[in-house]
Amino acid sequence: PYEGKVKELLDRMTTEEKLGQLQQLTWTGDTGPGGGQTEHTEAAARAGLLGSVLNIHGAGHTNALQRIAVEESRLGIPLLFGLDVIHGFWTTFPIPLAQAASFDPAVARLDAEVSAKETRSNGVRWTFSPMMDVTHEPRWGRIAESCGEDPYLNAAFAVAKVLGYQGSADGAELASEDRVAACAKHFVAYGGAEGGRDYNTVDVSEQRLRNLYLPPFKAALDAGAATVMAAFNTVGGVPAHGNAHTMNTVLKGEWGFEGFVVSDYTGVEELIAHGFAEDGADAARLALNAGVDMEMVSTNLADHGKELLADGRISTDRLDDAVARILRLKFALGLFDAPYTDESAAVDGPTPAARAAAREAGARSMVLLRNEGSVLPLSPDARSIAVVGPLADSTDLHGTWAGPGVYRFPSVSVLDAVRAAAPGADVIHAGQEVAEAVAAAEAAEVTVLVVGEPPALSGEAAVRSDIALPAGQEELIAAVAATGRPFAVVLLNGRPLTLGSWLDSAPAVLEAWHPGMEAGHAVADVLFGAVNPGGKLPVTFPRAVGQIPVYYNHENTGRPYRPEQPHEKYVSKYLDLSDGPRFPFGYGLSYTTFTTGEPELSRTGVAVDALERGETVEVSVAVTNTGELAGDEVVQLYVHDVAASIAQPVRRLRGFERVTLAPGESTTVRFRLGAEDLGFWTNDPAGTFTVEPGRVDVYAGTSSAARACRTLTVV
Ligand code: IFM
Repeated sequence: PYEGKVKELLDRMTTEEKLGQLQQLTWTGDTGPGGGQTEHTEAAARAGLLGSVLNIHGAGHTNALQRIAVEESRLGIPLLFGLDVIHGFWTTFPIPLAQAASFDPAVARLDAEVSAKETRSNGVRWTFSPMMDVTHEPRWGRIAESCGEDPYLNAAFAVAKVLGYQGSADGAELASEDRVAACAKHFVAYGGAEGGRDYNTVDVSEQRLRNLYLPPFKAALDAGAATVMAAFNTVGGVPAHGNAHTMNTVLKGEWGFEGFVVSDYTGVEELIAHGFAEDGADAARLALNAGVDMEMVSTNLADHGKELLADGRISTDRLDDAVARILRLKFALGLFDAPYTDESAAVDGPTPAARAAAREAGARSMVLLRNEGSVLPLSPDARSIAVVGPLADSTDLHGTWAGPGVYRFPSVSVLDAVRAAAPGADVIHAGQEVAEAVAAAEAAEVTVLVVGEPPALSGEAAVRSDIALPAGQEELIAAVAATGRPFAVVLLNGRPLTLGSWLDSAPAVLEAWHPGMEAGHAVADVLFGAVNPGGKLPVTFPRAVGQIPVYYNHENTGRPYRPEQPHEKYVSKYLDLSDGPRFPFGYGLSYTTFTTGEPELSRTGVAVDALERGETVEVSVAVTNTGELAGDEVVQLYVHDVAASIAQPVRRLRGFERVTLAPGESTTVRFRLGAEDLGFWTNDPAGTFTVEPGRVDVYAGTSSAARACRTLTVV
């Protein structure tokens, strides 16, 4: 709808002004190397040589800068302000990995809706979220920002976030007061970093690119994501910022993406360090020609664009295309009609409703890993409770990439929340000093042992080679276990951890992740049973670092390990480690128990052409709460194509549903399997999706280790 206006503006712009629209500068230096560009930003805005600014927020601050662009520059084109609002602006929700553990995309949608409102009212109309980097790498710090190892789960959460930010898939709500534009990132395969080292090489086959890494992006774009951010890594030897195959051919060609691609922070300039570009001019040429439309922080397009145009290394058509993509979003966001933010209407902190939503999300994201002898739930009538451990009184539980709220609103600590939840109990606190913790455990009826990673241990450039509990914590658990008193371990962390031998001595273990601003309350809600935990692991927990990568949706080898033959020699296994993960993808317990039935298929055979015409097979799974408490179960559906022209994962998640059941209650969950669920992408670089005839095993259950199976024949 904005083509006329865009064209009219383009016709009036000088080459410098066009190149200026492709430039994004950072106000502060918060999120990358090199420091803030404040003065340069103001000067560029005044000269009409700036399209966007990141790392600025606040209605007053953004208005002041916007006024320079709109009132002092020649054409008055408004700036687009962007910010990393990853899991909250003021109100911090759990980290995205935790949200994925809820197996309930409504959690992500609500986070995005609350975030959009708070962000927009503070002058920012564009968030660099959602992140949808599928990863098999728990060492990688940014796993905290992703939805784990599965493309289907990542896609479902990406869609929920995009719709929460933007309101609808058609972009019609972008201009409204409580919406922001989304950014699908990082394009693409960033989660494949070798060794988990941030920014590292990713050598990926076409089929893996298309089956594993691309699907969440396609889903996010189908849900209307307005922008895409390029990734720092190489993809098959070609840096993502200069990768014409992924950006031009797939994203803009095959998928017809009409929004714009922003580089990551200095990502264009980094083409030189990658050994891909000779110099800044070459980097600008390669990036623009491969599909990058806006350059974040480095200034190669602005600096060299004119000379590149003059000698034909970039074309005016491509420059105009990039500018048009950016202007279109500015029109859609209503920036030309209303460039300023109403300072009197700015949301100045978390509302009670937003806090309540964050608390509920936190509790819904938790995964009960172990509960022997029913230590949990705790009784609120306990006379004495020890709350011990290095994170027991921590108010820094927002997790990585928390928004500006992290500086003003500390998290609720577990200690304070336990005190509030059990007002009649004597709550004894001890930190990580072993003797004090032991004394507290001995004096109390039950102990809550709060351990894990401080948020700085995960996130960007926060990679660990050892993903055990940080130093001293395993010893602390062992000492408390040695008292023989009942205790529950609460894990607060941003990634899967290797849970050492202490696991066997801990009667109860609750994986609480980094739950956000309402952390303590959310933990206490689960500890005391106000919320029955129903989350599931969105990522495999390895037994040891040496086993990485270990993920449920792996392919078989020609000599797979057979659990019934553990001593077989010539099979794929470790000599010094039991096979399989510590906890599989999709795993999680409850305070009640459930049974699920066999998956029932509406038909046992289906023709390829019927599938291609849109026909589906219904799979129904009965689930019953067989315990004494109401609770949630996540019914999961997996498929395995037994023989195909490309070896297939042993399981692929194709459906999930979280249901709440009263004691004794049953329900039937229904899924539909269509061509997109039964087929796969081949290695054809031009993009071929195929549904092949043959046997497909259909598994249903409550984790990726589900055994109940029926076979569907595709003919
Ligand atoms: O959005 C982020 C990105 O995920 C990592 N580098 C910095 C960007 C902007 O802050």
